[in-house]
Amino acid sequence: PRPLIVMGIETSCDDTSAAIVTSDRKILSEVVRGQQDLHQPMGGIVPTLASLAHSRNMPGVICDALDQAGLTVQDLDAIAVTRGPGLPPCLPVGLNAAKTLAAVHKKPLIGVHHMEAHALTARLTTPLVTGDPWPEFPFMTLLISGGHTLLLSANSLGDYDTLGTTQDNAVGEAIDKTARLLGLKWLPGRRGGPGAALEAAALKGDPERFLGRLPMPMLQRNKSVIGFSFSGLKSSVMRLVEAEEVNTEKDMCDVAAAFQLTCIRHLEQKLHLALDLEVNQRHKPLTCLVVSGGVASNALFRTRLEAVAGMYGLPLICPPPQLCTDNGAMIAWTGVERLRAGLLDDYTITTLPRWPI
Ligand code: KG4
Ligand code: ZN
Repeated sequence: PRPLIVMGIETSCDDTSAAIVTSDRKILSEVVRGQQDLHQPMGGIVPTLASLAHSRNMPGVICDALDQAGLTVQDLDAIAVTRGPGLPPCLPVGLNAAKTLAAVHKKPLIGVHHMEAHALTARLTTPLVTGDPWPEFPFMTLLISGGHTLLLSANSLGDYDTLGTTQDNAVGEAIDKTARLLGLKWLPGRRGGPGAALEAAALKGDPERFLGRLPMPMLQRNKSVIGFSFSGLKSSVMRLVEAEEVNTEKDMCDVAAAFQLTCIRHLEQKLHLALDLEVNQRHKPLTCLVVSGGVASNALFRTRLEAVAGMYGLPLICPPPQLCTDNGAMIAWTGVERLRAGLLDDYTITTLPRWPI
């Protein structure tokens, strides 16, 4: 049979995206229109402004995705769209576009969970090569983004156990706020923004100098809890800034490096706890560790987490950096998986801004 063709539409945060992928893992088109320039002067994402920008950009992004693939809506087997979680004023822009397209053209509609899509992206981007690792269920997944820090066991499509989550800030949120506190310059382009700025600064810095001033989260009281906390770490950086210890470019880079390393060590420690528990207790063994979400585009996070997984005999599988951050391809792929399983939705569905996985 010919492969299925699915469009994915994503407007949960500040990227307007649409992509078309096939069930044999080809990305026929992938269009992302970011809003960096809009939000940077405001010091962070302003949901109402983000929603307006989605409204302006959505039709053009969908047209570009079709044009680049050389297809019309008639050629699609389904239209998938992020239903949640995400910013309340932003989600309806994508959902309404998808619902109308699907209803007018009598195509199946598939509402997608944004975090499930991050977790399943690796199943789109990892080639199926005999003998090579592939994210077959069950796998463990660490999703590190601006809105979430989620450690899950992925059992099957739509079936995830939450092993740990953050008690306060998401790791990407702490990274963004720290980059702002340090006054780091955002890099231009689609993959710019505070996270990329922090990674670049950390690369130039010496982590040792400030490491003692940035205590590891949850080291005493909650040492054996599988969970995360990043707000204290962010406050430690704030205290350094307030004490006027961060003045030169070198100071900024050294703090960035120490902060980044502490974030990574915290994730490593909790991942160890979860793997200790999970690896031996499952009757069906885990196939790999999948790390995804915007923060997974950071090279040091990837190498360090790969080493942890390796200690348990698990390969690390990450999507390529540009598909770790929000994109339409991950929504389209989740649409493919749900379409194959017959999991379709009505044209009447509404957004779920707070949707547990
Ligand atoms: O998955 P994503 O694009 O959007 C959400 O669903 O939140 O993740 C965005 C997050 C932001 O906090 C951003 O600063 C972070 O991912 N990020 C990075 C890097 N690139 C993006 N964090 C660290 N290093 C990076 N290179
Ligand atoms: Zn995301």
